[in-house]
Amino acid sequence: MTQTPLDRLPLRPELKGQQPYGAPQLNVPAMLNVNETTYPVPADVVDAIAKEVRAAAETLNRYPDREFTVLRTKLAEYLSVESGAALIAEQIWAGNGSNEVMQHILQAFAGPGRSVMSFPPTYSMYPLYARGVYSSYIAGTRGPGFSQTPQDVAAQIRQHRPHVVILCSPNNPTGTALSLEVVEAAYQAAQESETMVIVDEAYGEFRQPGTPSALTMLEGRPRLIVTRTMSKAFALAGGRLGYLAAAPEVTDALRLVRLPYHLSAVTQAAACAALDHAEHLMANVERIKGQRDRILNELPQMGLTPYPSDANFVFFGGLEDAHQAWQHLLDDGILIRDVGIEGHLRVTAGTEAETTDFLNSLRNYLNR
Ligand SMILES: Cc1ncc(COP(=O)(O)O)c(C=O)c1O
Repeated sequence: MTQTPLDRLPLRPELKGQQPYGAPQLNVPAMLNVNETTYPVPADVVDAIAKEVRAAAETLNRYPDREFTVLRTKLAEYLSVESGAALIAEQIWAGNGSNEVMQHILQAFAGPGRSVMSFPPTYSMYPLYARGVYSSYIAGTRGPGFSQTPQDVAAQIRQHRPHVVILCSPNNPTGTALSLEVVEAAYQAAQESETMVIVDEAYGEFRQPGTPSALTMLEGRPRLIVTRTMSKAFALAGGRLGYLAAAPEVTDALRLVRLPYHLSAVTQAAACAALDHAEHLMANVERIKGQRDRILNELPQMGLTPYPSDANFVFFGGLEDAHQAWQHLLDDGILIRDVGIEGHLRVTAGTEAETTDFLNSLRNYLNR
């Protein structure tokens, strides 16, 4: 085998031969592969962000507020309204994307000699977070149709006794939210092994009506953590702001592992301005949910099988050759996601026009 320059570095042994995370970033007319909001940031929100960032620029000679107090307060207010749970600023933590927030949690509660468990198919970064903090990764299993039941999840936690368990709800890539019974069963089982339970609600705002958030369970459950992000519903993927809610002692623990001043003044200013316009930004969430439901309705008419979705994307099966279908769509300028599950693909719900183009291209492919 030919040696690459990387092979000649004294890299940690477990990183040798590994690939970095990287969904394709191709410049095509419809980019529907990483579950961003495809609507541009509304002009008045752009103006508000620019104004706040300008004011922050005048302070850049100083380090930012290490405890991001204003941002935490705004996030607590937003989450309380969104979920119906009464949350205070001390329960909130934030980082540069929920990816960094997850890393903080694992740095504090996993680490060398400890284990992290999740249930594939799920967000592909979980094993990588575990690797990054020198923890072992345990892949749990799912039932028929990638479902999870309270009994099965609890039994697997009791069997493996991980230090941290991650539930993803709505799950990426399948799109389906967990009932709170599953979260409660996981939490009860986790108590026996002092396991921290994370519910990743990156797509929480897109859940179907009547589906409660695990945020409503935080009260009285000091080992439960619910993570959220501004990358999806807030159309702020480029702003890099993820956050969590948990007991105040959990957020206190995370201060032990964060790097000093990890949230720049510019990031804090941009996120605060977006939060001030939460109501306006949520109007697009409703539009996206409409397109998501349209995809859910139309795919069965093409003989395909979408999974129930509480997210801003739809996972569907029934394709003879998923990669060929993916390539056909790409040739039409539509980039969706092949998550490596035979016969299945995942598509982000975009604008009405993007959704129309996706559905037409897929129909043409199936009728070819
Ligand atoms: C389930 C899930 N969690 C977390 C993330 C990370 O989001 P971010 O780091 O942008 O907050 C993603 C991104 O796609 C995701 O799908």
